Amino acid sequence: MNFLKPAARPWRHTDFAYSRVRREGYGDALLHILRTTALVESRADQYGDYLRAVFAPRDARWREAIDGWNGEEREHGRALRRLCESLRAEFPFDGLMQAYLAGVHYHACDGSSVRGDIAGELIARCVVEALASTFYRVLRDACSDETGRTLLNTLAQDEARHYGMFLAMLDEEGQRSRVSLWQRLRVGLGRMLELSDDQIMFAAWLVESPPTPGYGRKAVTRRYQAALYPLYRYEHLYFAARLLGPVLLGRRNEWLNRGLAAGLWLGLRVRGGISAACLRSAQLRQRWASPAAAAKPRQERASRCVPGKYLPR
Ligand SMILES: [Fe+2]
Ligand SMILES: [Fe+2]
Repeated sequence: MNFLKPAARPWRHTDFAYSRVRREGYGDALLHILRTTALVESRADQYGDYLRAVFAPRDARWREAIDGWNGEEREHGRALRRLCESLRAEFPFDGLMQAYLAGVHYHACDGSSVRGDIAGELIARCVVEALASTFYRVLRDACSDETGRTLLNTLAQDEARHYGMFLAMLDEEGQRSRVSLWQRLRVGLGRMLELSDDQIMFAAWLVESPPTPGYGRKAVTRRYQAALYPLYRYEHLYFAARLLGPVLLGRRNEWLNRGLAAGLWLGLRVRGGISAACLRSAQLRQRWASPAAAAKPRQERASRCVPGKYLPR
């Protein structure tokens, strides 16, 4: 049995009509999120190396699955890079990627899982893929350019297949040793809370336009969440809940899914609202403290720090 089901229509990043991309179809917030995601997805080989090491005790089918998954994630990074480059010529991908890799390190490939064991690693991967599929649906619906919508829909479908792959692996792992409800909730919910960690926020800071001086995760998270969270609608979160339910609870139940979707919707509204309010208040404080400085273009005051200097890991 292959864990990774083949795509209905296999594709490569060169298949999309980048020359027909219309800049008007992308708001500034969407463009910023796409540039951030282009960096995060382009780290696919590091994710693959880490998972191959963690799953080394399992048979060849596991290795094949990760190899296939790794290849698809690599194409995601390439496709998003091409899309961002065709939207704004001054997207200096190579320099940004170098700064990203130097600034935020990924988990060590020593065969141990940061989630405790293989089952924990699979729970975390299922959560990531479920949220990634939802995320690309949200971006697709926020985009009015045909090429962008097609590309983002393709990524959403891939991420849903990746979710299915890791869920099948988790089911097989569960036959070796029981996966408890406590482990599912602890690892799964913990992974969801890590969405504002440096892996995404450092990338979001690097691609900010205009740039802001010095990396501060809290401030970047507020700006990122205030831009992204309002794009989520209830139907997106219901889709996420249908994927997350079997992972977090170990079973399918429509009422639990609806409850989870409502909880996610409320959580995003509250977090997004708090982030927007904090941003607004910081802007007002800055204006009152120094009207002249606030009137100056941010680029003039910005001095980019050396990536990595602030993240001694
Ligand atoms: Fe991906
Ligand atoms: Fe994926």
